[in-house]
Amino acid sequence: MKIRKAVIPAAGFGTRFLPLTKSMPKEMLPILNKPVIHHVVEEAVRSGIKEILIITATGKRAIEDYFDHNADLENHLTKKNKSKEIEEINIFGDDVSIHFIRQKEQKGLGHAISMAKCFVGDEPFVVLLGDDIIKSNTQKHATKQMIDVYDKKKCPIIGVEKVPDEKIESYGIVDGDKIEENLYLVKNMVEKPCKKDAPSNIGIIGRYVLIPEIFECIAQVKPGAGGEIQLTDALCILNKKEKIHAFVFDGKRYDTGSVEGWLKTNIEYACDDECMKKRMKLHELIK
Ligand code: G1P
Repeated sequence: MKIRKAVIPAAGFGTRFLPLTKSMPKEMLPILNKPVIHHVVEEAVRSGIKEILIITATGKRAIEDYFDHNADLENHLTKKNKSKEIEEINIFGDDVSIHFIRQKEQKGLGHAISMAKCFVGDEPFVVLLGDDIIKSNTQKHATKQMIDVYDKKKCPIIGVEKVPDEKIESYGIVDGDKIEENLYLVKNMVEKPCKKDAPSNIGIIGRYVLIPEIFECIAQVKPGAGGEIQLTDALCILNKKEKIHAFVFDGKRYDTGSVEGWLKTNIEYACDDECMKKRMKLHELIK
């Protein structure tokens, strides 16, 4: 079945970015002039997805407003003949539908994904974490690369990359057999293990292709790492019945949820933009 739907969890508190995230969703932090979540939705849309569910929570209304139509602003820009700006605010065109649901209690990623059950129905779907940006090295976005692997293998796919030893305990870690250049057959997964218990350094990055059976698995999960209902634990249950593959996508991943990660993302995006790069050189911010 063709993948048409994406789920983007964006409900977390953003504790690595306090105090700013007391009143502003971390997903609305700017990467140049676009919020992080814009880049994530754009990746989904450019991967052929037209139905998107964003899972939000209390205090995340700015995300809903961002994707809404702003008639007053548009009228104002029309009167001033600012056609370029009008184009910029009409973000993804009318054929893309963005839906929202709120997670009432922040009980973890698995619990957030369970909010998507009705939206997903009986179709396979993709998950893109709302604070992970992946800049692809090719024309093909990471999500599209993963959909293509799903189309061949017909089983859930988890996006992975090697993570440094000192970061292992921040990730879900995969134990798997390498079966192709960029593909592992998953044997087990552990959420945020300490380095000595980690089966490898293959870290789960915020992209997944999932099947609706994941919802029954999430329902069986007990609170795990950090006392939360973890998606990784649900995937372990699913893996008892279904093959799961871990795919090393071609692209550079940016974790925008920490101050240094966000800053690095902005600097690298600015350096990739010729006009911005010139201005940065002018102000002697870079050589
Ligand atoms: C989540 C997942 C984890 C994954 C990580 C990637 O953790 O639970 O398995 O490795 O995203 O960013 P979080 O960072 O939300 O705690």
